[in-house]
Amino acid sequence: MAEFFDRRAASYDEHMRRSVAEFSDFYRNVAKPIRRTEEPIAILDLGCGTGLELAFIFEKAPNARITGVDLSREMLAKLSEKHRDKGEQITLVRASFLDFEIGEERWDYIVSVMAMHHLTRGEKLRLYRAIHKGLKPGGLYIEGDYVVTEEEEEESLKRYAEFRRKYPEAANGAYHIDIPFSPGTQVRLLLAAGFAEAEVGWNNGKAAVFVASKCPKPA
Ligand SMILES: C[S@@+](CC[C@H](N)C(=O)[O-])C[C@H]1O[C@@H](n2cnc3c(N)ncnc32)[C@H](O)[C@@H]1O
Repeated sequence: MAEFFDRRAASYDEHMRRSVAEFSDFYRNVAKPIRRTEEPIAILDLGCGTGLELAFIFEKAPNARITGVDLSREMLAKLSEKHRDKGEQITLVRASFLDFEIGEERWDYIVSVMAMHHLTRGEKLRLYRAIHKGLKPGGLYIEGDYVVTEEEEEESLKRYAEFRRKYPEAANGAYHIDIPFSPGTQVRLLLAAGFAEAEVGWNNGKAAVFVASKCPKPA
């Protein structure tokens, strides 16, 4: 996985601008649930890559303290280069977000964009539980990712199970594998992980933004 993105880091932003339909709309909707504030709120970005979402997040919260976690050294290097002006506001960690210690009630927002579609349902559920625990009361988890229909999801899970039987090391992230889920599965997994509310905040064909609240929204 890291190698795959290391090789693509230089051309990654251009590739995304061309391949994600409604590119700006998508990233703007990722940042939309973040409140407009000058405060140094704490945001964790899982699979931050080159930080495409950060430009949109800083528009809403220019003084946010961002911790970005990613496996790829080259993607992180690109992020640092692009956001040099934000200096000490950004902390980067080269690690798997499956191993990263998210902590307890530490973050105002946790975001993840185009990075979770490599995980199985079980892996996502475990990670979502850790994310839920890591958010402060009132915190939000925002995920933007590819989505498919329920039928396509079943097909790709079957293909993945077959692949994993052949190559057991795939379970440790050795390969770049895409298993996007349907919006329904995503919402069910978030609720099963303990979020009080989870909804599709935006959906345009193959991409969607999910917003999950740690606590019930005030009436
Ligand atoms: C498609 S890119 C998305 C980057 C950025 N969030 C964006 O929207 O442009 C996916 C990123 O997730 C990272 N990634 C995938 N699996 C990961 C894992 N288990 N732990 C940390 N980073 C991971 C990859 O290295 C890559 O940089």
